Amino acid sequence: MRYYPVFLDLVGQPCIVLGDGKFALEKAAALREAEANVRVISSRDYRPGALAGARLVVDASEDPEINRLSWEEAEAAGILINVVDRPAQCRFIAPAIVRRDPLLVAISTSGESPYLASALRVRIERWLGREWGPFVSLVGNVRRQLRARGVPIPDQTRIYRRIVNSDVRNLIRRGRPDDAAHLAVAIAQAGDYAAGRVALVGAGPGDPDLLTFKARELLADADYVLHDALIAPETLALCGPDARLEDVGKRAGLDSPRQEAITARLIELAQAGSSVVRLKGGDPFVFGRGGEELAGLVRAGVEVVVVPGVTSALAAPAAAGIPVTLRGVASSLAITTAQGGGSFDRLRDLALAADTLVVLMPRTNLAEVAAVLAEAVGGSRPAAVISNATLPNQRTVTGTLDRIARLADQAAIETPATLVVGDVVAAAPALAVLPNSSVDGGLG
Ligand SMILES: C[S@@+](CC[C@H](N)C(=O)[O-])C[C@H]1O[C@@H](n2cnc3c(N)ncnc32)[C@H](O)[C@@H]1O
Repeated sequence: MRYYPVFLDLVGQPCIVLGDGKFALEKAAALREAEANVRVISSRDYRPGALAGARLVVDASEDPEINRLSWEEAEAAGILINVVDRPAQCRFIAPAIVRRDPLLVAISTSGESPYLASALRVRIERWLGREWGPFVSLVGNVRRQLRARGVPIPDQTRIYRRIVNSDVRNLIRRGRPDDAAHLAVAIAQAGDYAAGRVALVGAGPGDPDLLTFKARELLADADYVLHDALIAPETLALCGPDARLEDVGKRAGLDSPRQEAITARLIELAQAGSSVVRLKGGDPFVFGRGGEELAGLVRAGVEVVVVPGVTSALAAPAAAGIPVTLRGVASSLAITTAQGGGSFDRLRDLALAADTLVVLMPRTNLAEVAAVLAEAVGGSRPAAVISNATLPNQRTVTGTLDRIARLADQAAIETPATLVVGDVVAAAPALAVLPNSSVDGGLG
């Protein structure tokens, strides 16, 4: 690594900008913003010796001869110098900056690509809302108070974490700084920070980019993340470095006792003061048993938030280019599961009632499910099985209901997979051109 990043305190310090053009004006303005004592020397007025006494120099003269002389002079005198656009003649480089005073984020590509530095700056600016400035000031005030009270560092850390996970930042964003300050003070009072909480968070169908912003923030700040077996490693990588991960993925057959154990573990961790994320595939309330966990947590008096996720029931057809509703083709949709025991009466009823039927967990008994549905709505009804939707290994097989199970077997379609039945499959405008789709000739 060539560069050592620092933030310079230049308040009242003599700084010189060489040059007359736009760059010189910009550099002088930036240094003045940092309250430096700035002198601008025009290109024609520069003589060796003019830099004497300066702490820092920016040569924006764009004149190779002046560049050479200023570099030599600054080097000989030990003055920090940046010759604009000449990396070999720079003792420092200026990063792209995101300002949320007092928070400052500096971005550098070590001179490789100013474009990328500025593109990243725009992204970080969007991510770090304006409320971050006052939020950092508020946490700074709390910190001074805690230090004055002699609160031990581990307790301070828990309080900061609790503030980060609380509504304080939202209150500032909504223009209620006084309420935010009151809440922060309440959290900082001894005892109040001991309460933990659980977030029931939807992780989406697989692609980490489909995680919500809120889910990302909660993962970054969680003490514990209890996750399903199917969550992608890239998604888990979004957890903070100190987060403890527990795979509580359920196996078929062991469902009921495991579910109680998971809820009990969530309650135990929250009551011990931890911020817990319960990360579930898709949406937590779509065949995810999130409702049961919520009920258990509420009964135990634990604070809970629910963060919806993109459900695979909608994402799988969408990622395969199948619109679940389509003008003139389908205006109603039913979502169900092929599991859950009992008869297939409900499946049959739903297939008759809705234009489009989405069946989750269909893979193990696909042949049986397809036969039941074919009996209800006819074997020529179009169907699709989409596996690993939104992931690099996504695959789609389409065919009529009476052939779909065989086609899925022939194509060795794996789990997780979702079945879609309805005319929208044949009408899907882009199905044939999407990658990894095998469209059966019998369709449409
Ligand atoms: C226990 S259910 C949970 C559903 C989840 N809560 C949701 O909203 O997506 C698991 C089923 O979701 C479907 N599924 C999950 N991820 C999928 C994916 N990436 N592609 C296709 N289907 C998926 C499959 O039908 C799988 O058997």
